[in-house]
Amino acid sequence: MSFKVNQDYLKLPGSYLFSTTGRKIREYAQAHPDQKVIKLSIGDVTQPLAPAIIDALHGAVDEMAAAETFKGYAPDLGYEFLRNAIADNDYKARGCDIAADEIFVSDGAKCDSANIQEIFSKDNKIAVCDPVYPVYVDTNVMAGRTGVYDKIGETWSDVIYMPCTKETGFAPEIPTQTPDIIYLCFPNNPTGATITKDALQEWVDYANKVGAVIIYDAAYEAYISEDNVPHTIYECEGARTCAIELRSFSKNAGFTGVRLGFTVIPKDLKDGDVMLHSLWARRHGTKYNGAPYIIQKAGEAVYSEAGKAQLKEQVAYYMKNASYIYDGLKSAGYSVSGGVNAPYIWLETPKGMGSWEFFDYLLENAQVAGTPGAGFGPSGEGYFRLTAFGSYENTVEAIERIKRM
Ligand code: MLT
Repeated sequence: MSFKVNQDYLKLPGSYLFSTTGRKIREYAQAHPDQKVIKLSIGDVTQPLAPAIIDALHGAVDEMAAAETFKGYAPDLGYEFLRNAIADNDYKARGCDIAADEIFVSDGAKCDSANIQEIFSKDNKIAVCDPVYPVYVDTNVMAGRTGVYDKIGETWSDVIYMPCTKETGFAPEIPTQTPDIIYLCFPNNPTGATITKDALQEWVDYANKVGAVIIYDAAYEAYISEDNVPHTIYECEGARTCAIELRSFSKNAGFTGVRLGFTVIPKDLKDGDVMLHSLWARRHGTKYNGAPYIIQKAGEAVYSEAGKAQLKEQVAYYMKNASYIYDGLKSAGYSVSGGVNAPYIWLETPKGMGSWEFFDYLLENAQVAGTPGAGFGPSGEGYFRLTAFGSYENTVEAIERIKRM
């Protein structure tokens, strides 16, 4: 053998969190074919695409059938009709100064959150919330940026962990060690927690002061129900010089299987004379041929009047599930949080059970699947995540089964 594999991949412990939980659920279901397993584990949507989106998809498919309207490669940054709709609705309507050419359309926020680290030097130090969406850490491991893994503490030597605990309202505190790249996700996956606009402003001020960049994952923005919770980091003053924002169509419009997202990089975000915007544009141009035209047309329909009204209802449907889970578990004596501005409910495992132990216990005794908190990082131990993305009927049944346990 003369070729060598990327040694950094070998440092990754185990498989990807949702591959592990998916395998365990499948194995249980195969061994118990008579039992109905209810999956409230991965944050995958269950409701069909809204009619306005289906109409747009049909229309775009028909366009592909005629030479006059057929489309080949999409423009590097995405079609202008979609970038204008995003700039107008997600930013200008909120008083945020983001231009259409600062928006990069992609096939989803997971890929963008994984790939964005590529434009930074290997010796940057990352800071992550703990618990954290595992993609941020795993992709930095793959890139060789995280140092050595401590199997006992389940942490990486070169990563700054910002514990988000019950005591801090599951919000991170400014770390004592200075990071170069700060990953923040609000509304948060997995805890469902949010921070106020003032608290986010503190992060923006801090990042500008120390010269760090914030990678702000706002995939769950559509679920915000309370005032004073920022919908985008660009509501904060100074964010244009320190923040990249990641957004998804998966959770607000049910695109988990359709695939569409975008990343915002303001042109004011620079390392000396170098705009991060230029580097990401270079990467996009070289490595990516864009989300399909058909899907970008579906994305445009998300911003139509009919699309907005239908999606508001869809989000309300999932949030009704969230309330049902939250109230049901609370009345059963569980300590719960989240579920108010996010489709995730974060509960403490009962009787001091380990989170993987509770995963097995719940599967065996209630045939309900969730996600163990420990899979999101050491501070997730002792916690468990349930998603509100199931059908209402399954959600009700799952909670009734848990109550009977
Ligand atoms: C989750 O369950 O955390 C999400 O489905 C992850 C994702 O959106 O990739």
